[in-house]
Amino acid sequence: MEDTRTTAARTHFDRWSQTYERDSAARWLGEVRTAALAALGLNKEDVLLDLGCGTGAAVRDAAPQVRRAVGFDLSPGMIAQARDRARREHLENVEFAEGDVSGPLPFEDGTFTTIVCTTAFHHFARPLDTIAEMGRVLRPGGRLVIADANRRHPAVFVLDLLLRALQPSHVGFRSPRQLMHDLCAAGFRRVSFCTIKRRSYAFVRAERDLGA
Ligand SMILES: C[S@@+](CC[C@H](N)C(=O)[O-])C[C@H]1O[C@@H](n2cnc3c(N)ncnc32)[C@H](O)[C@@H]1O
Repeated sequence: MEDTRTTAARTHFDRWSQTYERDSAARWLGEVRTAALAALGLNKEDVLLDLGCGTGAAVRDAAPQVRRAVGFDLSPGMIAQARDRARREHLENVEFAEGDVSGPLPFEDGTFTTIVCTTAFHHFARPLDTIAEMGRVLRPGGRLVIADANRRHPAVFVLDLLLRALQPSHVGFRSPRQLMHDLCAAGFRRVSFCTIKRRSYAFVRAERDLGA
């Protein structure tokens, strides 16, 4: 049965999909996406997966830099917007799929060389299962960047408590160290992090073990 927070997230983001990339949060979210893609160091051979892709802005931005880019998201509204925007830009190497990251991802083992996930991980109801799936669909040596609010920042810590109580779709922000620990436990290597926005936001970067 679906987690109630996931059901709430679908409703919340379906509504937001109508104004996403155009409202007051758009600039801030865009800066984070740009920095996350830069941290991946994309190249023309890469096959990119964006988990919790929203309206597909990172997929469209990455498209000219990679062989293929795929966006995956829970919200039918977000996916519809993503497809429409990519079509209007005549992008031929992008595609979008709808689904929940808490279950098995609909991709073969080792399909991707890079995975990005921006400002979405705190909605994921089964984060350890999602990390395991990231490892499965990533090719050995593939790179991953998870970017989200940093629970170690005092304001984010308070916000997290408030959102856990008040926002039905909120699962929880993680500290970079917690996320790094989870990634190491799942067999990722070269795990590191950096922060931006006065340490309120963190990028955790990792690579899939060559032997895994
Ligand atoms: C704040 S938006 C971020 C979108 C995009 N990554 C960005 O940076 O603009 C969070 C996205 O995560 C998606 N999401 C939330 N829970 C999800 C889940 N369980 N599986 C897949 N996507 C999910 C939402 O539908 C939403 O589009």
